[in-house]
Amino acid sequence: MCGIVGYIGNKKAVDIILKGLSYLEYRGYDSAGVALIKKDKVNIFKAPGKLNNLCSIISKENEENVNANAGIGHTRWATHGLPTETNAHPHTCNCKSLTIVHNGIIENYKDLKPNLEAKGCKFQSQTDTEVAAHLIAQEFETHKDLLKAVQSAVKKLKGAYAFCVMHKSMPDRIIAARKNAPLIIGVGDGENFIASDIPAIIEYTKKAIYLSDNQVAEVKTDSIKIYDENDELVANKVENLPFEPIALSKMGYKHFMLKEIHEQPDVVRNVLFGKLHDAEAEVVLDSVRLNKEQLKKINRIQIIACGTSLHAGLVGKYVIEELTKIPVDVEASSEYIYRNTIADENTLVIGISQSGETADTITAIKQVKEKNSHVLIITNRKDSAMARLADSLLPINAGIEVSVAATKSYMAQLLSVYLFAIFLAQNTENADENALQKIKKELLTLPSKLEIILNDTKNIKEIAKKYSSSKNFIFIARGINYPSALEGALKLKEISYINATGYPAGELKHGPIAMLDETMPVLAILNEGIVYDKVLSNCEEAKARQAKLIGVTNFVDEKHKALFDDIAIIPEISDIVSPALNIVILQLLAYHISEYLGKDVDQPRNLAKSVTVE
Ligand code: M6R
Repeated sequence: MCGIVGYIGNKKAVDIILKGLSYLEYRGYDSAGVALIKKDKVNIFKAPGKLNNLCSIISKENEENVNANAGIGHTRWATHGLPTETNAHPHTCNCKSLTIVHNGIIENYKDLKPNLEAKGCKFQSQTDTEVAAHLIAQEFETHKDLLKAVQSAVKKLKGAYAFCVMHKSMPDRIIAARKNAPLIIGVGDGENFIASDIPAIIEYTKKAIYLSDNQVAEVKTDSIKIYDENDELVANKVENLPFEPIALSKMGYKHFMLKEIHEQPDVVRNVLFGKLHDAEAEVVLDSVRLNKEQLKKINRIQIIACGTSLHAGLVGKYVIEELTKIPVDVEASSEYIYRNTIADENTLVIGISQSGETADTITAIKQVKEKNSHVLIITNRKDSAMARLADSLLPINAGIEVSVAATKSYMAQLLSVYLFAIFLAQNTENADENALQKIKKELLTLPSKLEIILNDTKNIKEIAKKYSSSKNFIFIARGINYPSALEGALKLKEISYINATGYPAGELKHGPIAMLDETMPVLAILNEGIVYDKVLSNCEEAKARQAKLIGVTNFVDEKHKALFDDIAIIPEISDIVSPALNIVILQLLAYHISEYLGKDVDQPRNLAKSVTVE
């Protein structure tokens, strides 16, 4: 979603801000802007579309106008108003002395606006942010100090915000504030940085202060002062940032998505490292703060997540129920909230999120914490808001994921869910030791099996080319691979904009079969196991309607070979672990179709990497 970068120091601010914004491009945006402050002059540049548009405007500017040592920049993902130049940030007050960039949503902007208009504030845009600009400017009139103006204004704002503000008459400072939206302050030597996420500043500093909710910071070249909600100065807690700049390189791959797909064998090794040594050993999850007694009392599990993380949760349901016999409900966070969900102290609530910043999931977690349920967070960002809310934290260690379409983080989530299911089973009375050992053994073989798939992608590229002109796609599977069908369809629609749907194969005949004809490819996931024959029958039903059939399988029965128009084979694997292999075929299919269609693979339209609004 929106990105923020601020800089104050002795270097050319615009270069640092634009570069920082480019590292946040992956989060998704549709316009961009920068405000630069120098002595008592503020210059604002804005452009709709990609950052290149903004860069080219700035490059044509007189050097005098862009040569400043302090500034704030923004990439906007439209929530209120079209992605136009006027609606792009920074926003200003009437006299343009104050500039603001903002992430989040000011929920009470419509309540605040009439009062500001009555005081003479002229609104240019359709954004909620402009209300904050005028409100802070009004407060500045009263307090004659930018920090005090912001401190006073935030007490009147409802909703979520991370923002940076500058004022022409105080060019030596940037004021930053946060509530329910991430913001960090990078600590430099004679310079300081502000950003909504680490990639924007990691090239310059590895030290940062994570602002907490309701804190306001005054950032100058050589000082950072943080104030709490009572306007009391608090001690600076400087932490080491967890990423290396190298993580932001494509390493020779054409797209981040392809690089991230190929990183999956190593991601699996990372997840297993230190937790699963060998098939005979117990799974060790030190960060799960539930003792044996507490684990035994769990009689219900609820998994809440969104998008791809939700699909990892659905796989989790099958695995946890199979190994522990504890009932598991899985629900989209946005559905879980705003109703009286049933949970108590014997319910374990698992939140799954790549970013740890997804607003719907954060709200759901906050809601359930009031019910005394233990909250386990499975996330790729142990520095995130969700991680901070967790009673137990299971970091998935996938490394930074740049492509908007989640791939390696899904793999790491799957593995983490398998490990947690085994861990839970180890601590229940009737664990089936043989079944646990079999799964552990298979998990340990995953890296080499993933390498087999990734070392030869010729077949899947050909399949992608053949079907790239399809307008629709159906993915079917049963049992534990039903979530794989959902995830495969989600990947394809996200990056190719093809209308793709995932169905339980048995549901085909209850409606979707009406859509089948020779123009409709049906991709079936069928693994040797309990549902193999059933999926095969569903494939026959599809074939009888002349649909084109693509099989993704670990087993090709010669007598059925002719049924499929195309087949992608995965290495031998049990049904229960097979989602970890099947998904790679579907990721590659989506990637190559998108590539053939010439789409923006890493930054698909309308999407954001981290969805910080409800
Ligand atoms: O960061 P999260 O895992 O909480 O994000 C949830 C979804 O927004 C995310 O999985 C989204 O569906 C991805 N674009 C999937 O590729």
